Amino acid sequence: MRQVIVAGNWKMNGSKETVNTLVMGILAGMSEVNSTVIVCVPSPYLSQVEALTTHSQLNLGAQDLNVNASGAFTGEVSADMIKDFGAQYVIVGHSERRSLYAETDAVVANKVQVALDNGLTPIFCIGETLAERDSGQMESVVMRQIQAVIDLSGIDAFKHIIIAYEPVWAIGTGVTATPQQAQDAHAFIRSILAQNDANIAQSTAILYGGSMNPNNAAELIGCEDIDGGLIGGASLKAEDFLQICKVG
Ligand code: 13P
Repeated sequence: MRQVIVAGNWKMNGSKETVNTLVMGILAGMSEVNSTVIVCVPSPYLSQVEALTTHSQLNLGAQDLNVNASGAFTGEVSADMIKDFGAQYVIVGHSERRSLYAETDAVVANKVQVALDNGLTPIFCIGETLAERDSGQMESVVMRQIQAVIDLSGIDAFKHIIIAYEPVWAIGTGVTATPQQAQDAHAFIRSILAQNDANIAQSTAILYGGSMNPNNAAELIGCEDIDGGLIGGASLKAEDFLQICKVG
């Protein structure tokens, strides 16, 4: 039985004040939550959120990492730096990084491997654009994205990877995939893993992301192959985020 995982991706939002209010609000409701809950925060706030969440059930993550250990990479953040602030998770290959910062499948696979090498759990994002879906390419796109990681790291790597299926057309648009569309994609993703290793396919968490909110979370997470959510907008309000966390 896979445990429900709910991860918030705050993206580039927040201030010291709002971060404090949000984290305190989430912590206040955590006693009623059975899911594993993660907040993936902008790097400048890792320290603040670490201090607020020590000895709590709330887990900390970052939103990206650089593959190098240290050095002349202005503006970048290493795996060691992320771990230094008590974070155990890192989002890798979010569609915004793929589209706005030209991260290819190979770049993303490399980041997944570096996260694993450093003991971080990658939340590995995949998903097709609207044009790709409309032209019948959803399966080939997610297959290609997953295969890049299998080719570089092997199927065993998925013992330590969380997959997030985020159809690009559903991100920040208010257009959620229907439970059937999401379930179909998740089942397909699990079948790709199963072609390589049936046990790993069964144990790997596959989260759905894309306009998930308190009104649609239960139905989505209730689907057989949907093991939780990666939440953008609705993770910025403690009440909304907690409602989703309580689904598990
Ligand atoms: P929204 O929940 O705002 O659609 O964002 C989803 C997402 O991109 C999470 O990584």
